[in-house]
Amino acid sequence: MSALTVRAGGPLKGEVGVPGDKSLSHRALILGALARGESAVRGWLDSGDTRATLAAVEALGVPVTRDGPSRLSLRGGDLSAPGGPIDCANAGTAMRLLAGLLAGQPFDSTLDGSPQLRQRPMRRITEPLRQMGAQIEDDDGRAPLVIHSASLYGSVHQLEVASAQVKSALLLAGWHADGPTTVIEPGPSRDHTERMLAAMGAELAIDGNVIRLLNPGEALAPLDMSVPGDFSSAAFLVVAALVVPRSEVRLSAVGLNPTRSGLLDMLRRMEGDVAILGLGEESGEPVGGLRVRASGLSGTVVEGDEVVRAIDEFPVLAVAATQAAGTTEVCDAAELRVKEVDRIGLLAGELRKLGAQIEEKPDGFIIEGPARLKGARVDSHGDHRLGMALAVAGLVAEGETVVEGAEAIDDSFPGFAGTLAKLGAEVA
Ligand code: S3P
Repeated sequence: MSALTVRAGGPLKGEVGVPGDKSLSHRALILGALARGESAVRGWLDSGDTRATLAAVEALGVPVTRDGPSRLSLRGGDLSAPGGPIDCANAGTAMRLLAGLLAGQPFDSTLDGSPQLRQRPMRRITEPLRQMGAQIEDDDGRAPLVIHSASLYGSVHQLEVASAQVKSALLLAGWHADGPTTVIEPGPSRDHTERMLAAMGAELAIDGNVIRLLNPGEALAPLDMSVPGDFSSAAFLVVAALVVPRSEVRLSAVGLNPTRSGLLDMLRRMEGDVAILGLGEESGEPVGGLRVRASGLSGTVVEGDEVVRAIDEFPVLAVAATQAAGTTEVCDAAELRVKEVDRIGLLAGELRKLGAQIEEKPDGFIIEGPARLKGARVDSHGDHRLGMALAVAGLVAEGETVVEGAEAIDDSFPGFAGTLAKLGAEVA
């Protein structure tokens, strides 16, 4: 286990980039495996989670060539039976999307993962996949998942939770079904799979929260894509720059897909000075720079559809809320309890160790600010985002904060400590 030591210090200044988007990096491999021919991916995120997906597609017979630290190419086409169980490590996205990809293959496969991933709910994918004809054995709704060869039918799915992982699993399974697949979401989850499938030639009819995949089984064109910086990684630097007095930070080439950027709306409501510089598009995804200046924040309320647009950002939003004047309340976010860890209970417990005033609710939390945080020994509990959020809190906590279990940060943001140090943070 490694630890990260953070000290409160001077302002953060400068311009940095963030590693490639994790959601897109998983999808580039999984959808690239479905395409006929050679896909090229630049800006690919080389992290714990995405390496699991890379090993998975290789185990399915897809040749992948690493053309540099963040460039790769892969030759998609017919998949072959893996030689043994596929290890998805801590990556929920890998397991759920691969389950969709594998449900309609003419061979059996097993998806497994770390003890952390084995705790996470899988019924949300196994049940609708079974409705399509999939033959899946699970362990009381959890991994390992044993997927038997099956023929799939096109069907209509009304999702109970807004989840891009579930939607994507069903669209991937739908690609191997005998007719159109329809997914109806209760709210707008991230739409990377739809954008990528459309760029590859899939016919999708999208009407609000209703997504129909119309031409299953036709040849998909290979990808030629540049992955933008991960908004969910940028989020930690954005909040760090807002809360450390006198900071001014620029972040280059960040993915700004509106289904992901809910945190910006929340921070602006909190009076955070965050500007988008030069919004453009790369490979069908909105991309831009961000300029963030330290700001006196005030509390806000987050609820409803906005929650899913920021589903990974609540640990760091909570840190911003500890420094904001007044009350911040998060509602309708019970999903946070089934992320890598319980991101309500454990977040509250760890932030309290630093002196935050945070009250847990079944579906969110209430934070009173501003709080004078005091350095302490805290723990990521094996969750990359909890670890990074606690490190950001350490930047405004008096004295020294030690984040235990910091190796988890590599799941999504390798180089996190070095990037903070480049901006002038005291972190080692
Ligand atoms: C992801 C979807 C979200 C998100 C996760 C990545 C994806 O999960 O929390 O980090 O890439 O599709 P849910 O679909 O469970 O909300």
